[in-house]
Formats: sequence, C-alpha cells, structure tokens
Amino acid sequence: TFVVTEPCIACKYTDCVVVCPMDCFFEGPNFIAIHPDECIDCSMCVAECPVGAIVGDRELPPEQQHFLALNRELVEQPGWQRLTARKEPLPDHAQWAAVADKFDELKR
Ligand code: SF4
Ligand code: F3S
Repeated sequence: TFVVTEPCIACKYTDCVVVCPMDCFFEGPNFIAIHPDECIDCSMCVAECPVGAIVGDRELPPEQQHFLALNRELVEQPGWQRLTARKEPLPDHAQWAAVADKFDELKR
C-alpha cells in the first residue's frame, strides 16, 4: 500500500484524490489517509502531491513508519469520509508546507 505521511498535515492539497482509480482516500480535518486494503499500489498519486507526502510502505523512512498503522486507523475514524474531488487546500497551507515536524498538529 501507499501511505500518506507528515507533509500532508495542515496542508491537504487534495491533488492526490483525483487520480486514484480506487477512490481510496479518506479525508479528516487537516490530513488525508489511504485505505490500505483498497490501494492497488498503482503509484499514480505520488507525483500529484506538491509536498511529496505519499510514500510506498516499503520506502517509509524510519521516523515515518508509524504512518502505516495511522493511515489504517484514520480511515476507520468516525467522521472521516471518502474524498474523490479536489478542493481548496487549508488556509495556512503555504506556511505549514515549510514545516517538517508538525505531527502535533494532526487533528482526528
Ligand atoms: Fe490510489 Fe494508486 Fe495512490 Fe493507491 S497508489 S492510493 S490506488 S492512486
Ligand atoms: Fe495531502 Fe498531498 Fe494529497 S498534501 S491531500 S497527500 S496532495
């Protein structure tokens, strides 16, 4: 499966959802997650993300490993809905795109 990682937090550009043939992105308040049982590893979404947030599960750097379990947890979170159409990124996306360490900002 492919995994959404830290750069997406507080940005949520949503370019990724448009290209997914499985429609397997789920949206929360300030992050998006991939359903690991639905992703077919096509890798189409990777190049779409302006901040490079999407990584294959076998290429996750050590400090981002926890995002694999987190994506699964979040797609099952009440209120997280499937998203298939692009929408405006979050208002402070440009500011947050430059911040590498922003895990504490993640809203469930
Ligand atoms: Fe969707 Fe393909 Fe990305 Fe998986 S790798 S989330 S199937 S676009
Ligand atoms: Fe997030 Fe990148 Fe998609 S910022 S919403 S993974 S395009």
